[in-house]
Amino acid sequence: MKLKDQVVLITGGASGLGRALVDRFVAEGARVAVLDKSAEGIRKLESDHAGNVVGFTGDARSLDDNKAAARRCVDVFGKIDTLISNAGIWDYNTALVDIREDKFDTSFDEVFHVNVKSGLLAVKACLPYLVQSRGSVIFTISNAGFYPNGGGPLYTASKHALVGIVRELAFELAPYVRVNGVAPGGMATDLRGPASMGMNDRSISSIPLGELLETVLPIGRMPNVEEYTGAYVFFATRGDAAPATGAVLNYDGGMGVRGLFASVGGKDLEEKLGLSK
Ligand SMILES: NC(=O)c1ccc[n+]([C@@H]2O[C@H](COP(=O)([O-])OP(=O)(O)OC[C@H]3O[C@@H](n4cnc5c(N)ncnc54)[C@H](O)[C@@H]3O)[C@@H](O)[C@H]2O)c1
Repeated sequence: MKLKDQVVLITGGASGLGRALVDRFVAEGARVAVLDKSAEGIRKLESDHAGNVVGFTGDARSLDDNKAAARRCVDVFGKIDTLISNAGIWDYNTALVDIREDKFDTSFDEVFHVNVKSGLLAVKACLPYLVQSRGSVIFTISNAGFYPNGGGPLYTASKHALVGIVRELAFELAPYVRVNGVAPGGMATDLRGPASMGMNDRSISSIPLGELLETVLPIGRMPNVEEYTGAYVFFATRGDAAPATGAVLNYDGGMGVRGLFASVGGKDLEEKLGLSK
């Protein structure tokens, strides 16, 4: 149990990666508060993890809701050691040419509001508690924080912005609060799109992501959502991660090391080493 007696606040913790993070952090001995807009997801979390999880149904885009979630966390568990800013939406790779002119402002604003502004608001709401606890912040970024084609320009720009925010806040909040990011790759979750683009009922689970990634990822398969959680435990662990601030971990199955002529270079390694059966 690496996180015994630690308290973590997670935004977007009712589904997908956030839900897997709640389960993992509880298993590591932490108590967890969750801010999510899904009342049903929050109810399920509280009943699955009675006593260890407290939920707040609200909108991560609102400073008031972030403040209320932070207060609830402190009222119930006494402190906040780590904030994980994780709530997000995806633009379903909508290219610039395909973004409707009459929806451009609302589409841009919605993606940036959820993916970027809500992260800043969460930190602002939790800051006094994080300074008191000498705590840390972890942002969920994405492969789209580094490479093209993991989204359209709205999503890609929003995730690149988070890389900048990690670096800026790591500077601004030092020496009290460490700020890091995890940049996961594709996962089978319920990731939705912007309502302004008519994509709020679309789920990434409708795409055969596993099949698509199997052929292009150096690790040869799409990781399970649970397999992404270890990096967050690492960054939250005070002992192991004491030197880590301003760091972003590319945690995406190797998207940055695909080759020019093939996605992987070692397909015939077993044969060359005489290890094939
Ligand atoms: N699924 C992927 O392939 C993938 C890849 C890289 C990065 N990510 C990132 O992972 C993070 C988690 O997404 P996921 O894939 O687990 O999706 P998900 O939809 O399963 O989970 C996201 C959660 O955030 C909540 N949420 C969304 N907007 C909110 C708001 N305004 N206020 C409160 N709660 C809100 C949702 O209700 C949901 O519970 C996102 O930041 C996403 O960009 C996902």
